[in-house]
Amino acid sequence: MVKNMKLARVDGPIVLIGFGSIGRGILPLLERHIDFDAKRLVVIDPSDADRNLLDERGIRFVQSAVTRENYRDLLSPLLTVGGGQGFCINLSVDTSSHDIMDLARFLGALYIDTVAEPWLGFYFDSSKGPADRSNYALREVILDLRRRSPGGPTAVSCCGANPGMVSWFVKQALLNLQNDMGLSGAEPQTKAEWAALAQHLGVKGIHIAERDTQRANTPKKRGMFVNTWSVEGFISEGLQPAELGWGSHENWMPENGRTHATGCQSAIYLLQPGANTRVRSWTPTPGAQFGFLVTHNEAISIADYLTVHDASGKAVYRPTCHYAYHPCDDAVLSLHEMFGQEGQRQPEWKILDENEIVDGVDELGVLLYGHAKNAYWFGSRLSIEETRALAPYQNATGMQVTSAVLAGMVWALENPEAGIVEADDIDFRRCLEVQMPYLGSVEGHYTDWTPLKGRPGLFPEDIDASDPWQFKNILVR
Ligand SMILES: NC(=O)c1ccc[n+]([C@@H]2O[C@H](COP(=O)([O-])OP(=O)(O)OC[C@H]3O[C@@H](n4cnc5c(N)ncnc54)[C@H](O)[C@@H]3O)[C@@H](O)[C@H]2O)c1
Repeated sequence: MVKNMKLARVDGPIVLIGFGSIGRGILPLLERHIDFDAKRLVVIDPSDADRNLLDERGIRFVQSAVTRENYRDLLSPLLTVGGGQGFCINLSVDTSSHDIMDLARFLGALYIDTVAEPWLGFYFDSSKGPADRSNYALREVILDLRRRSPGGPTAVSCCGANPGMVSWFVKQALLNLQNDMGLSGAEPQTKAEWAALAQHLGVKGIHIAERDTQRANTPKKRGMFVNTWSVEGFISEGLQPAELGWGSHENWMPENGRTHATGCQSAIYLLQPGANTRVRSWTPTPGAQFGFLVTHNEAISIADYLTVHDASGKAVYRPTCHYAYHPCDDAVLSLHEMFGQEGQRQPEWKILDENEIVDGVDELGVLLYGHAKNAYWFGSRLSIEETRALAPYQNATGMQVTSAVLAGMVWALENPEAGIVEADDIDFRRCLEVQMPYLGSVEGHYTDWTPLKGRPGLFPEDIDASDPWQFKNILVR
């Protein structure tokens, strides 16, 4: 059992925006591990569906949506009242990470979120082209804010499970590979040193490789989108263009692949929705599997972080990096149904909670491929039974996220003047130390699988036999 050990203290007000599946789940972890005054915690959400959890604890609830129009007036007093340094935890959909982070820092408060979120309307704005609706664009807005206002109160951008924890897993996996290959060398301390290590190890690419086998006691109803975390969040990102960090070893790009005109240049996007784009990947339980190439911030940030530049500034090494997500089976069916209706969302939706899930595991890790030992998956395998025993109000997927938020918060409280940071920038050891008790079994697995295994099968295929790890072989076409 996880001990009730306090890890850090918040001496000002805490404002929690969004009380959905992740917001609910962070509550018991805050109570256990953060020393704070419950009378100074306020939760904001337009829905009062779970208000009883707050009422029974005497926690203040503001039933309101945070909007572009009201966020300054609503949040400023809440983040400053009573003195001390405030902490804004943004776990809602449809609220601009950029604007709220900027405000929190202006007020001297700490800030954390799990996604670079825009205001309501962004994801479905047909007047915007695909590049403007990408996570690349959303991340560049945060990077621009960092350039314009360096240092100051810490704001941790995109610190959930993925994006978030997986950036820490990548570092641990690189060290494990280095060790298992019998290579020596001091542990990298800087971005340049981590990138050099990935290059030295010959890592061609990284999948954020996930399989969620959680299932409910009732089958999915027709006309209902079912998932194990935010349905709204998943549909929004699933209808963004597929995006991936673009590796220096790639010698083929899909015809509908596009590069960006500005920004860090670490990623490309495809002119098709990520949740309708399949890739070949691998996780321990199923072995080989299809995953969806859903766009995520970490695909871009990890590829950016691990890019090696030469003296002239030219990128000479970068791993390909993308999500390969097999959500719970009901979500796969839900996507199938939704794309059958040209992306029209089902009239009903539901997030499976810990009480209705009968069994299953969320195994979420990083698959580092293309090196001398072929491929290595390192990640968390957390079952619903373990989750129930660890903490209330969440399923296994949620626990991997909320424990990462806790880790990011502890790091921010220990480093309150670090400015705007991404998970790649912060102390992966400290964060994993905080998170580890909540991750179930954290394991490393080597595999001899490649995306060419068993191919070509019964039909001729356009494959690149010279290098199994080309994206050409990974993308299902
Ligand atoms: N990085 C990760 O690993 C990770 C994983 C899961 C979820 N997330 C993100 O975390 C966020 C929360 O996920 P979730 O599963 O709890 O979602 P959810 O859909 O269960 O909950 C979202 C909550 O936000 C509330 N909300 C909607 N609009 C709001 C507004 N304008 N102001 C305040 N609250 C508002 C909703 O009423 C809802 O209660 C999403 O943005 C999601 O994409 C990140």
